[in-house]
Amino acid sequence: MAELVVVSDEQAAGALVADAIVSLIRRKPDAVLGLATGSTPLATYRALADRIGGGTLDVRGVRGFALDEYVGLPAGHPESYRAVITREVVEPLGLTPELVRVPNGDPATVEHAGADYEQAILAAGGVDLQILGIGRTGHIGFNEPGSSLASLTRVKTLTEPTRADNARFFDSPEDVPMHCITQGIGTILRARHLVLLAFGEAKADAIAAAVEGPVTASQPGSAVQLHPHTTVIVDEAAASKLENLSYYRHAWLNKPSWQGI
Ligand code: GLP
Repeated sequence: MAELVVVSDEQAAGALVADAIVSLIRRKPDAVLGLATGSTPLATYRALADRIGGGTLDVRGVRGFALDEYVGLPAGHPESYRAVITREVVEPLGLTPELVRVPNGDPATVEHAGADYEQAILAAGGVDLQILGIGRTGHIGFNEPGSSLASLTRVKTLTEPTRADNARFFDSPEDVPMHCITQGIGTILRARHLVLLAFGEAKADAIAAAVEGPVTASQPGSAVQLHPHTTVIVDEAAASKLENLSYYRHAWLNKPSWQGI
């Protein structure tokens, strides 16, 4: 079973994940972080920036791989995930920009960009800790329903609900690209530790399906059940449709103190 932790709010979740990342970097100064975009991980990045800000942790060797990117946005577009990762992660954390990769969504080279990205992740020795959000459709990364559970980094067509959800970042809904390049579910499952975050009632169905539903390509988030080390961190609203909630709380309260997440 995935470990499921219910926290009071995004800040509490951010603190928990940031502590786990700090201890990972202390153990392994060239740790490989799997980076998600979207609003969900922002509190984690802020908490991490606060912890690094003191200057006691050297993060210059930390490496990163973003989950996904839009295809076809002009280089430097503020809503490209390259720009978002630079703004929300690389700069505030003081990471070394050359060590943080984002899939290349340039249409001219996108045909082999997936294979290149897989190769880069392998060459880095794999992802140590992968941060994940989840979309309303149950997607992780941009793996929309129907994505193969064994899929690797490749181009996908976004669903209309996902384009509508992401329209808030663009001037108009039509500006949201139709295609993306995303790590596959198989890629994500190779990371050594998955940390899936979700907040708010709008995510409650997706979380219930991911944690307690059948493992199915129709709910890409459910693939986390196949992973030996998954931590799901949610607030009360996102947890509200879980059937075994009282057991998750019980297990968390009685967790041996020597175990981290
Ligand atoms: C996008 C990203 C996902 C993210 C999802 C949820 O589609 N590609 O990685 O998990 O949005 O976004 P939010 O965290 O803003 O709810």
